[in-house]
Amino acid sequence: MIKGFFTKTVSIEEINPSNIPKHVAIIMDGNGRWAKNKGLPRIAGHRAGMEAIKRVVKAANKVGVKIVTLFAFSTENWKRPEKEVNFLMSLPQEFLTKEINELNKQNVQVKIIGFDQNLPEHTLKAVHEAEKRTENNTGLILNFALNYGSRHEIVQATKAIVRDVLAGKITEQEIDETIFGQYMLTKNYPDPDLLIRTSGELRLSNFLLWQMAYTELYFTKAYWPEFNEQHFFEAIYEYQQRGRRFGGI
Ligand code: FPP
Repeated sequence: MIKGFFTKTVSIEEINPSNIPKHVAIIMDGNGRWAKNKGLPRIAGHRAGMEAIKRVVKAANKVGVKIVTLFAFSTENWKRPEKEVNFLMSLPQEFLTKEINELNKQNVQVKIIGFDQNLPEHTLKAVHEAEKRTENNTGLILNFALNYGSRHEIVQATKAIVRDVLAGKITEQEIDETIFGQYMLTKNYPDPDLLIRTSGELRLSNFLLWQMAYTELYFTKAYWPEFNEQHFFEAIYEYQQRGRRFGGI
């Protein structure tokens, strides 16, 4: 076994149905390297990454995960070449247009968190339409973090709190972790129980820093386009071996 990486073949029967993480956050990393290894352009990696999303939705539904939050585009990803950024911005439209019927069939609710500014109109339109068309579903929440950055989120929340204090809507004394959480983009969701990051990188990359204070971290060497049901089950199984104490004993 590679140090720091869990490797075991896990069947669904080995997963304990009474200890399923409610919220799984995923950093979908390694699309570019996967493509490069195959002699393909980077965008082919992103396209293959969309297939991995479909596999994860199915696997999450199978084991009963309630929320999957995917890091689809970070506030730092604008530094990439314009051609790649444009391609990434076209993916929500392509994915959601192609997959909306299937997502509805699987009772999936599409959601988005992130900052609207700088996102092209067509990208916003595609995700908002998908949100609308799946809003009556009651199953898995598939939450895309698009133009999302955790530090920016915390700064924006702080500014909004200051405004509300100055406007007399809340007092300084009332501000606590619960109230602060209500100013975050994730206010409707519980904190992630499990984070999965693919491609062997071992960092959080400004993803849900406030929300992941007690999240279990799982890293796999698989590149995102390779990620499949088996990898997902492995991550859930490994999560179930952890003792979560939340600072207690
Ligand atoms: C990281 O790999 C991946 C991304 C920055 C983009 C992930 C996006 C998708 C998989 C598709 C999103 C789809 C929708 C519907 C929004 P990388 O490019 O950093 O890979 P590298 O580290 O190997 O270069």
